[in-house]
Amino acid sequence: MATSPSSVFYPVLFLFLVAPCYAADPDPLQDFCVADLNSSASVNGFPCKPSSEVTSSDFFFDGFTKEGNVSNVFGLRVTSANVLSFPGLNTLGMSMNRVEFAPGGLNSPHSHPRATELGVVVQGKLLVGLVTTSNVFYSKEVGPGELFVIPRGLVHFQRNIGEGKALSFTAFNSQLPGAVFTAPTLFAATPTVPNEVLTQAFQVDENVVNQIKSKFGT
Ligand code: GLV
Ligand code: MN
Repeated sequence: MATSPSSVFYPVLFLFLVAPCYAADPDPLQDFCVADLNSSASVNGFPCKPSSEVTSSDFFFDGFTKEGNVSNVFGLRVTSANVLSFPGLNTLGMSMNRVEFAPGGLNSPHSHPRATELGVVVQGKLLVGLVTTSNVFYSKEVGPGELFVIPRGLVHFQRNIGEGKALSFTAFNSQLPGAVFTAPTLFAATPTVPNEVLTQAFQVDENVVNQIKSKFGT
C-alpha cells in the first residue's frame, strides 16, 4: 500500500513538537571523557583520551589563582576555563571565566552562541547590560555577591563603574560557549567585510568605517 505524504509528515511533526528542547551541550554518556586535544579525529566536541592515561590533574585547573594583566585598551582580562584550557570539561557541558577589570574597564558587547551565562561579582561594581531580540535594553549596577544572567545568544557587556578594580566569575552551560564580539566581528574579520555593507548597515560614510577598521588593525 502506498504511503501518503501526510501520514508521514504529521507523526514526524508531532515528534518534533513533543521532543525535549535541549538548550545546552548534550548530556554525557559516561563518567568522563577527558579531551584528547591532539587527536586528528573530528567529532562534536573532542575524542576522549584513553582512561589509562587519565590522571588526577585532568580534573583540576589552577588558572584562576593568579591576577591577570589588565593593561590593555579595554582594561580587561578574561581567563577561560573551557575545554581548550581544561580538557577534563569535555562532554560535561560546563565552563567558567575569571573576568578582571581595571577602573573603567569594559568587556565589550558580545554574545555566546552556545551557552547561557551566569555571573557573580566578587569585587567592585559593574554595569551589566543586555539587549533582547526585541531590541529592549536591560541593565543594572551589580556589586559584590550579586549575580546576573545573560540568556543564550543575547548581546551583553560589563563595564567597571567602581573606583578600583573589579572581579567577576561567569559560568556557562557549555564546555565551549564561544564569544562573538560585535565590533571586531564586523570590523576586523578576515577577509574583511566589504565597506559598502558596513556603510549601508550603519548609515555612515566610508571614512568612518575605515577609521573603526584601523582601530582593530585592519
Ligand atoms: C562575560 O560576559 C563573559 O563572557 O565572561
Ligand atoms: Mn559574556
